[in-house]
Amino acid sequence: MKDVTKRGVFMQLERLNQILEEALKSIDECETSEDINVVRNKYLSKKSELMSLMSTLGGLSIEEKKELGQKLNQVKSEISKALEIKNQAILEKELNEKLQKEKIDITLPSKNFKSGAKNPFYIIRDEIIDIFLGMGYSLADGPEVEQDLYNFELLNIPQDHPARDMQDSFYINDKLLLRTHTSPVQARVMEKSEGKPIRIICPGKTYRRDDDDATHSHQFAQVEGLLIDKDINIGHLKATLELFLKKMFGEKREVRLVPSFFPFTEPSVEVNISCANCGGKGCPICKDTGWIEILGGGMVHPNVLKMNGYDPEVYSGFAFGIGIERVAMLRYGIDDIRKFYTNDVRFLHQFTKKI
Ligand code: PHE
Repeated sequence: MKDVTKRGVFMQLERLNQILEEALKSIDECETSEDINVVRNKYLSKKSELMSLMSTLGGLSIEEKKELGQKLNQVKSEISKALEIKNQAILEKELNEKLQKEKIDITLPSKNFKSGAKNPFYIIRDEIIDIFLGMGYSLADGPEVEQDLYNFELLNIPQDHPARDMQDSFYINDKLLLRTHTSPVQARVMEKSEGKPIRIICPGKTYRRDDDDATHSHQFAQVEGLLIDKDINIGHLKATLELFLKKMFGEKREVRLVPSFFPFTEPSVEVNISCANCGGKGCPICKDTGWIEILGGGMVHPNVLKMNGYDPEVYSGFAFGIGIERVAMLRYGIDDIRKFYTNDVRFLHQFTKKI
């Protein structure tokens, strides 16, 4: 009996050497991590021959168990180690191949992209925004399809007010229209601000039932400005607009305020700058006046303050509306407002370098 097991152990030791040899050969032949998994499965999984030999140890004497057990462990650990080493080598090789494949040759000349030009309308719009953000204003927004309430009523323009004729509107129904100016945002911001100080600008599209020509467009854009606080007077308005206009048109331009009328401001002003073309002497561009009308503004009318939740005894403020196309036309000497919208590349490309 002993002899039989002795022989058995001997044969098993032999078999183990064979297994080790086979396994090392298979490992050597592995080319991918996938191959490694197959070999690992074959030699080290629970169902492998090596593991089933392990389970036979129970029936052996202590001495035999020791001898065979040691061999088993040695074979197992040699196979594991060889698998590990080979796997590392394969991973490294795979990574190198991947890097090689994905290598970017940075010495190749780049594709010559043709970049588009920014429409001068947007160049000027962004410049206006930047100037006011620099003065501590924030951006506000409002809908282009606006309620009659905000566009007129809350701006002190009641139903039968003749000032409604000043602005031919696109009505959608008797309560809704395309906003004729950005001023409704004044009422909307006041409504939201619950009596607290305000300092906002709102750039946006506006619509009027004008016949399109070189200086009129049924759709154009304004930047509304509104500042409300205690002790605000017309000097603040003048200083603010002067600063803005000198940044936009240059330090040398003179700025003057001329009395005007808007139902939502009192007093109202029209702001002029001296004509750059003739330096104030008079020419066709300024219609011989030496001045160019550039924007409208004024002190927020007490009725507007009251209607929108501000006590005119405590708060005062100013508002202004800047026509973006008008500013852009003057800055760049553009003679037709329609050029902003018709996307003629010959026109747009003149501004590529001005961005
Ligand atoms: N909303 C006026 C317009 O469109 C401009 C304006 C804005 C005037 C704010 C005064 C104050 O002509």
